[in-house]
Amino acid sequence: DQPKIKLNNGVEIPALGLGTWQSKPEEVIHAVEYSLKEVGYRHIDCAWAYANEKEVGEGIRRSGVPREEIFVTSKLWSTRHNNVEKALDESLANLGLEYLDLYLVHWPVHLNPDGNHPNIPTKPDGTRDVVEDWHIRQTWEQMEAVYKKGKVRAIGVSNCSEKILEQLLPHATVVPAVDQLEIHLYNPQHELCAYLQSKGIVPQAYSPLGSTGSPLLQDERASAIAQRHNLQTADVLLGYILAKGYVVLPKSVTPSRIAANFKGALAAHKTLTKEDIEQLDKVAAAGKQKRFIMPPWPVDLGFRDWPGH
Ligand code: A2P
Repeated sequence: DQPKIKLNNGVEIPALGLGTWQSKPEEVIHAVEYSLKEVGYRHIDCAWAYANEKEVGEGIRRSGVPREEIFVTSKLWSTRHNNVEKALDESLANLGLEYLDLYLVHWPVHLNPDGNHPNIPTKPDGTRDVVEDWHIRQTWEQMEAVYKKGKVRAIGVSNCSEKILEQLLPHATVVPAVDQLEIHLYNPQHELCAYLQSKGIVPQAYSPLGSTGSPLLQDERASAIAQRHNLQTADVLLGYILAKGYVVLPKSVTPSRIAANFKGALAAHKTLTKEDIEQLDKVAAAGKQKRFIMPPWPVDLGFRDWPGH
């Protein structure tokens, strides 16, 4: 049986989910169908901004797996902070679903709805159209409203530092269930994750393999541990995050990798020893590049390790 994590409202989330960022629409249909029908994934992570929700929904339908057996997450895009319910309804319509299991605020940044869009180029000075006169609680109140209406089984945030959460939590009547972050071997965010767990917020790891063209898969220490246990390096990278008690969301559109990541992560989760985890915990301190994903917003999000912040 695959590991599950209990969220702070009692809802259970499968600890391993399929990521869909950068999955092309025509590829994601098959990736989602395959992951559910052939491999056993029961958790799909998507977002309005990935511009492939319709195809994710199609993949879910084609799989034939009953809706209630699947955990589906989507995210509120930054131009939609003024009307959360309408944005959610659009995601539900795209996906062809009646409810979401989890809805996240994609970034704690409000972009001008008339100014920019992920597919519209940035301004000549490199900035996007950020709404300055905004507090995250204004968005969170609307997230709480759709949750209380029963349109989503849990609500959470993404890309939120401790600084942003400290702005949000005093106003929250519903504590975010999760914070989805770039978490992997080189960017384990130990302090932030400890903070999240102290507040009952589950860390979710996006880009756990370091995204496209990542050096993580060549990491010598992870590879050595993998060899010792007869695992692949990717398995160790994913199993490491499961062992920390976080949700892990590897993305792939390649059937062999979709299957290998699922089986390998679960095998590594069972096999990795306490000593292995302790060794892996120390890898990031060795001065490697930490982040592979840098958002273009000219906003201080409060992450201590971001260049320029
Ligand atoms: P693809 O989708 O073409 O299979 P992350 O989850 O960190 O964002 O990483 C996703 C990237 O890593 C994608 O480019 C994906 O390629 C690739 N990938 C996914 N699983 C594996 C794997 N087991 N081995 C090597 N590359 C992988």
